[in-house]
Amino acid sequence: MEMTCKLAPSILNADFSNLGAAVAAVEKGGADMLHLDVMDGHFVPNLTLGPLVVSGLKPKTRLPLDCHLMVKEPERFVEWFADAGADSITVHAEATHHLDSLVRRIRERGCRVGVSLNPGTPIGCLDLVLPLIDMVLLMSVNPGFGGQKFIPYSLAKARQLRDHCDERGLSTDIEMDGGIGLHNIRELRAHGVNVFVVGTAIFNSPDPEEKTREFKAAMA
Ligand code: DX5
Ligand code: ZN
Repeated sequence: MEMTCKLAPSILNADFSNLGAAVAAVEKGGADMLHLDVMDGHFVPNLTLGPLVVSGLKPKTRLPLDCHLMVKEPERFVEWFADAGADSITVHAEATHHLDSLVRRIRERGCRVGVSLNPGTPIGCLDLVLPLIDMVLLMSVNPGFGGQKFIPYSLAKARQLRDHCDERGLSTDIEMDGGIGLHNIRELRAHGVNVFVVGTAIFNSPDPEEKTREFKAAMA
């Protein structure tokens, strides 16, 4: 199935003292959504941002806010993020015992629904919920920090998932997160990925707006 490609810059490595400017730069550069990495210090070793940052950014941008919850027991928090203005909420399959009820709750709140898998988690665990969700977020690094090295087997995992979705007639977005740069974006696309999370390659560059444009051009 031919899928629309989308670029989702992650602000994890942006200047947190001036997030508004960081968001404006990637919006101007043509980003399709804004990826917000929520970390709780339990599911992953890092601590980042919560619903207050989501609600703070909401009036500053027209970009959809793509909230990636790397938190234990995400069922405790999804309503908070929906109320804060999240457009999509992605939860980790490994972080909850109640994936089915959780994806239904996210849907009920009017958000797009994503489920994420850590690199070592096989895609089979999504078989039953796949028709209920909009997006699968495949981690291509172990979550927690920006700037890590892409795990090569993630390519085959994406291909396997895209083929599986095609066989079932599902136009599920496949988002990949971690270690993405201009050097591998075309290869990822060829393996069925259509939503690209890019953190350090954009925000550690001298000109995030121009770098966003370069990524958009590479995806076209
Ligand atoms: C990692 C986060 C990513 C991260 C990506 O745990 O989920 O979104 O910011 O950063 P890069 O592109 O530098 O790998
Ligand atoms: Zn992420």
